[in-house]
Amino acid sequence: MELLQTIERRSSIRNFKNENVPVEDLKELVRRGGLAPSVNNYQPWKFYVVTNKEVLSKMAVKVSERIKQLPSNKSIASKNVKSQVEWFATFFENAPAVIAMAMEDYESVLEKGVDLSHDEINKMRNFPDIQSAGAAIQNILLSAVDMGYGACWLSAPMMAKVDLEKILFIESPYHLIAFVAVGKAVRELEPKSKKSLDEIFKLID
Ligand SMILES: Cc1cc2nc3c(=O)[nH]c(=O)nc-3n(C[C@H](O)[C@H](O)[C@H](O)COP(=O)(O)O)c2cc1C
Repeated sequence: MELLQTIERRSSIRNFKNENVPVEDLKELVRRGGLAPSVNNYQPWKFYVVTNKEVLSKMAVKVSERIKQLPSNKSIASKNVKSQVEWFATFFENAPAVIAMAMEDYESVLEKGVDLSHDEINKMRNFPDIQSAGAAIQNILLSAVDMGYGACWLSAPMMAKVDLEKILFIESPYHLIAFVAVGKAVRELEPKSKKSLDEIFKLID
């Protein structure tokens, strides 16, 4: 598929057909993710791909539990907000596959020469580690469209990061960053409307 068409057709897909994604396709998605740019080409990522239904369901239970534990404020909306967020954080359990991205910390060259902590430098550089992760995830999302799949990026489940890392056997120095749910879409969705070019383009000539 043409790149432009792929970019224009992509939309977050959250409802999937009950159809397995072949491992070869999952590998190809991850391979393309790994081609993304990363700060200093450090390629911090590792992708844990889950197709096992029981494991997915165990993961979703942990996310639900975590959301229920969040302190509610006094608003009437509180309960609704939580159940809405719960759906967006757990629908991945019904996806044929979930690609969990983990990452190790980026040690900047600066760390060897200045008296600032890793976290301080990372913040000062506007989180190049997370920016790198985003590039890889976008590669996966676009590749999913290109290969006839639907996909959705998820950060909400990270609320239960510690429990999820245990379930997925993700160990230090790696830590969980995000999920991508993948599968055949139940139906093609119209891409969401986006801001106009006028709103987002500023030329400094
Ligand atoms: C960093 C990031 C985190 C996201 N986390 C979630 C999530 O946890 N659950 C979810 O359903 N969608 C999540 N999304 C998908 C967005 O809701 C979606 O991209 C947005 O509504 C725009 O819709 P579109 O992707 O169809 O253009 C996330 C997207 C991004 C970029």
